[in-house]
Formats: sequence, C-alpha cells, structure tokens
Amino acid sequence: MTEELALADPQERFQDFLKADKYRERISRMAVTEALSLTVDFDDLLAADSELSGMILEKPDPYLEHANKAAYAQLQIEEPEYAEQLEEERITVRFRGLPETTLLRILGSEQIGKLVMVEGIIVRATPARPLVMVASFKCKRCGTTSSLVQSGPFLRAPFTCSDPACSSKGPFDFVQEESKFIDSQDIRIQEKPEDLPPGQLPRWLNIKLVGRDLVDLARPGDHVNIVGIVRAVAPTMPRIGKLRSFRLHLDANHVDVRSKEPETVTISTEEEKQILSLARDPWVHRKILRSIAPSIYGYEYIKEAITYLLFGGVAKHLPDITVRGEMNLLLVGDPGTAKSQLLQYVGRIAPRGLYTSGRGTTAAGLTAAVLREKGGGMSLEAGALVLADKGVACIDEIDKMRPEDRVAIHEAMEQHTVSVAKGGIVATLNARTAILAAANPALGRYDPYRNVAENITLPITILSRFDLIFVLKDLPEKEADAKMSEHILELHRVGTAHVESQIEPDLLRKYISYAKNVKPVLTKEAVQRLKDFYLEMRSSGTENAPIAITARQLESLVRLAEARARVALRKEVTAEDAEAAIAITRRSLEEVGVDMVSHKMDIDIIMTGKPKSLRDKLKVILDTILDMEKETGMVEKKALLEFLETKHSISAPEAERLVGQLFKEGTIYSPKEGFLKKT
Ligand SMILES: Nc1ncnc2c1ncn2[C@@H]1O[C@H](COP(=O)(O)OP(=O)(O)OP(=O)(O)O)[C@@H](O)[C@H]1O
Ligand SMILES: [Mg+2]
Ligand SMILES: [Zn+2]
Repeated sequence: MTEELALADPQERFQDFLKADKYRERISRMAVTEALSLTVDFDDLLAADSELSGMILEKPDPYLEHANKAAYAQLQIEEPEYAEQLEEERITVRFRGLPETTLLRILGSEQIGKLVMVEGIIVRATPARPLVMVASFKCKRCGTTSSLVQSGPFLRAPFTCSDPACSSKGPFDFVQEESKFIDSQDIRIQEKPEDLPPGQLPRWLNIKLVGRDLVDLARPGDHVNIVGIVRAVAPTMPRIGKLRSFRLHLDANHVDVRSKEPETVTISTEEEKQILSLARDPWVHRKILRSIAPSIYGYEYIKEAITYLLFGGVAKHLPDITVRGEMNLLLVGDPGTAKSQLLQYVGRIAPRGLYTSGRGTTAAGLTAAVLREKGGGMSLEAGALVLADKGVACIDEIDKMRPEDRVAIHEAMEQHTVSVAKGGIVATLNARTAILAAANPALGRYDPYRNVAENITLPITILSRFDLIFVLKDLPEKEADAKMSEHILELHRVGTAHVESQIEPDLLRKYISYAKNVKPVLTKEAVQRLKDFYLEMRSSGTENAPIAITARQLESLVRLAEARARVALRKEVTAEDAEAAIAITRRSLEEVGVDMVSHKMDIDIIMTGKPKSLRDKLKVILDTILDMEKETGMVEKKALLEFLETKHSISAPEAERLVGQLFKEGTIYSPKEGFLKKT
C-alpha cells in the first residue's frame, strides 16, 4: 500500500463515525467511569466507513493515532470538563472484534505492521509493572533536567545536555519523580488445543499490554481474543549486535476475555434437530457410550464412566462454599491395556480437552509455576489443569507428576483453583477441570493381593479425590482374548471399527456442549435411592466395621446421577439415573475397595491403605506366630496353617496367601525350609 492511497482527513472521517448515538453515549460514559480508552466495535466502523476501517487494518500506526485524536476531539465536545482533566490530553481507541482471526500458525512476515486479531489461551503472564514513557534526566555537570520520550525495550538517555551552554555528553542521572510511567505487562498466548493439527506442538506469541485498562484484565488459563499490531524485533546479542532473524510479538490494542462467557460452540438449527432427536432416543446412553473410542474393544463400564465425565454434574454455588460438578476418574492398569489410547481420544473429542503426561509438557507441569525470565523478573506460567479450565484434562502417567504438582493438585482437584505465592507473584487461577487420569501399577503389573494404595505410587489424599477408580488388568482369558484379537485384526484389515450407529465426533462434541446448559435437579425418588445406598454402605457391618463410604462418595453419586440425566438432556434426575450411578460406583468400589477376604466394601483401602478385615486377619496370624514362637522358637508352617483353620476358620489357601503377604512385607522370614519366624 503506497502513500497515495492514504485517505484525506482521516481524523475528521473518524470523528464523523463517532457522532453516531452509540458512540456519543459511550463517550459520555467515559467521564463517569473515568475511562482512558474508548472501545469501538470494528463491525460498526466497517459498516459506516469501510475505506477507513481498511486503512486501520493496513496502517494501524498512523491511523490509530488519527482515531485517538478524533476520539479526544469528540470527548472535548461531549464532556469538555473531563477532557480538560486528562493530563495527557489524549485517549486511546480500542478496537474489538476484527472481521477475521489470524491463526498463530500462519502469523508471519506478511503481517508485520498490520492490525490483526489472534485467539488463544494465556499461558504466561508477568505481574503488572511500571513502564517509563517519558524519562527525565539530570545532567551531572550543570544540573539541567531534560525529558526524553521512550520507546523500545531499553531506557535511553539524551545524547547531549539540553542546555546549549553546557551541551556535555553526560553523565546523566535518571530522575524517577519527574518521569512518567504507565502500567505494562507481558503475556504469552498459545494456540487453543482445538486449533492444533494432530501431533503438532502448539505455537505461541508474546504480547505486550500497555495501559491500566489492559493490564491484569486476564489471567493465565483465560481464553482471549486480542487485537494488536504485529511487531518484529531483532533480538540483541551482547557484543555481537542485533540478529537478522526477527522475533514477532504483538502490541495489544484490545483484549477480549472469552472464558468469562459460557462455552460458545456454534450449533446450526439442523444440528440442534439432530441433537434433540438423539436425546429422545431411549438408547441414547448406549449410543454415546458406543461412540467413545469405538476402536477400543470392551471396557464398557469405563466408557460409561467416561460418558458421565464428559457431561459432568452440576456445580453448586452455595453462599459459603462451592461444590464441584466436574468428575475425576482414574484408570490404573497394566502396560498395553489401551489407557493412553483412551485418554488421547477423550482429549480430542471433549470440548476444551487436553492430553498431557503427568510430567506436563511445559515447565509449569500440571498446575502452575513461577519462572525467572531471561531479562530478569518473574512470570507466572499456567500448567495443564489451568489450561483445561472448563474442559477435560487427560493426564497420562499421573503417578509420574512433579513433586510441586503433588502438593498443588489437592487444591486443584477439590477446590478447582491453583494458588501461587512465589517470587512476588500472588495469584489464584481457575482450574474447573474434569480429570481423566491413567497410572501404571507401582510394580509394573497390578497385584491383586495388594490394594489400590499399594498398587499405585500416589498418596491416599489424591486417590480419595477421584470419584471413580477402575483397574485394567491384562489377564489372559481365552474367550475375551479371541474376541479382542479378532477386533484388533479386523481393525487393521479394514481400517475402521465395525460398530453400528456411532455418533460422529464433531456432533458428539456439540451434543456435550449443548447438554452442559441443562441443569438437572434430583427428584425425590432419586434422593431416596442415593440415601438408601449411602446408609446401607455406611451401616454394613457392626460398630467397628470398616466405613464403607464417606460424604465424598455421596457427592460423587449425585454428580454421576446428574451427568446421566444430562446425557438425555433431562431436567430431572430420575430414580433410574440414581440406580445407574449406584451401579457404577459399586463397580468401582468393588474393583478397588473390595476387601479380598470378606468381599465387603471397604473404603478403608483407599483411605488407609488396608482393608479392616484383612488387617484383622493379618493381626490374628501374626499374634498366632508370636504365641507359637514362645513355645517352639520357630514356627512350623504346617502347624500354623492347621491351627488357623481350626481355631480361626481361615482356610488353608487363604492363610497361605496371607502368610505370603507377610513374607513380602518382610514382617516374617523363613529361617529354615518349612519354618517361619517374626523378624
Ligand atoms: N481393548 C483394546 N482394544 C483395542 N486395542 C487395544 C486394546 N487394548 C490394547 N490395545 C492396543 O494396544 C496398544 C497399546 O495401548 P496403549 O499404548 O494405549 O497402552 P497403555 O495402557 O497406555 O500402556 P502403558 O501403560 O504401557 O502406557 C494400542 O495400540 C492399543 O490400540
Ligand atoms: Mg500409556
Ligand atoms: Zn549540562
């Protein structure tokens, strides 16, 4: 674009545009709110004066200045008193919503100097810090102060003293009190997961925010649309000079925080029809379950749990506390049981889904980190759970998370926030995230004689925050093996899974977004069922029986039942929903919490690591060994097993296994073949 194409009287043309009622009103309001900027919806300008709007996109540097001057001139007409008050005699015009967004992936040299709109998640932010705009310098020779307008990243002193009589080349002292500062902040945005081509690393862009109305507007984890001018700056190498390859950044003009709005997925009327007819299908639950990772064979109950996780329960915002609606689901399993595949699939189809490994893919790991920047100063970087705010975080190999995350994840899983207080940064970030996590057993394979807490290297405090835990065992089973191998081989032969009535992933994602607007309420019948189940579990057994279930599980049950109602877009949680929630909870408790010995539910396993009756039996055996030792020194194993069978009715095979466990734990040893002794 050449100079000849510049418009005549751009300032006047812009002021004409501002004379529309909408903007006259906005300008009047500035005096009330003491605003320093005026927001213009770009569409309005495009409609009113497309030539002018085109120039703003093409040559933002001069044209934004024309706009600023025009706005100030109009402010002088509308609110002369307020205009008078403004020290700088200027206001900034900020443009919201350009006609198109530029993907970070295609941002390049072509856009340098242009006004663009980019979209992404804030991954990093420095604290707001003062930026000197006009610097005052005092000459050390004669004491004259001169001020210098600043630009660029470094503080510049004058070349010579402004007093012609002196005109020495310094030295100068910086005078802070007489310099003018403005708030500034550096942030980094990253491509949204949904814009990411499969298998590629997300692109990012640094953005400079200047002005008190832009600074601290958004936090890491927020989804934003940012309008700004693309700049290219050559990085400076000490003693070498500036590099030829420039780095792009954006000087922000307007920041629009999107995550404060409800999830915005555009659903056409045609799609809405499809969604509503699907919801009326009595088999909708099965259909959706079948559409989740159809290439993965079996695991129906896990897919059912994933269905509930995708839809989620309803968050309760009480005056004093908030109870989360999102669920946390953990899969513990042997190698090669398709855990990673399931997680990756869910990461792809879930609205705002994200797949990451326990270590995280950035320095911020799963929660957040305070990083020291190259140029000095600190910045706050958001981890996976913050980036997946209002979405689903699929965390593979969660047992391998960083030690810092192990501490911070407790808060993230229950309160749905991540708090940071380090290096002068104090912040609380949102992490309203459903978690689908996978872990390998501590010993490589799941040991059925050990409980969940012993099988995973995760503290009980974290385990108890999962609504459901399932175990994926790679047990050889003839029939299942035959079916599964057929399924996998067929898959490789024809390239698709042979499952009827699947829902397309795109429609499924829209269905989930649509369903999230439904807020089902428990019916009396549903409440009764959940209550009965809760009481039954709590009271199973005698006074010192293991506590079968805690208030946490009751909340989980409610979430599951609500999610199931949501799947059918129902506003009421029926008894049937409650039954399904109970069934899947029972299944999960059986897998991880069942006392292997008495088959009684035993949440003690999750909470303390050992089931109560198992603990009791181990104690009986140990006491017996100690008693017999008193008489014989060593205990003959055969005699021990007989005694346990007759006196304590612990069957020989069971006693054998428990003795084996004591062996493994190192509580007893074998001084001689066939004999035992306490260590
Ligand atoms: N039930 C199944 N249906 C279809 N494919 C399966 C099934 N189980 C395993 N596979 C296949 O086995 C391979 C290994 O799966 P995956 O890598 O997801 O295992 P994993 O559980 O994550 O293992 P690890 O614990 O070692 O990370 C994949 O190619 C997967 O498709
Ligand atoms: Mg894996
Ligand atoms: Zn001087």
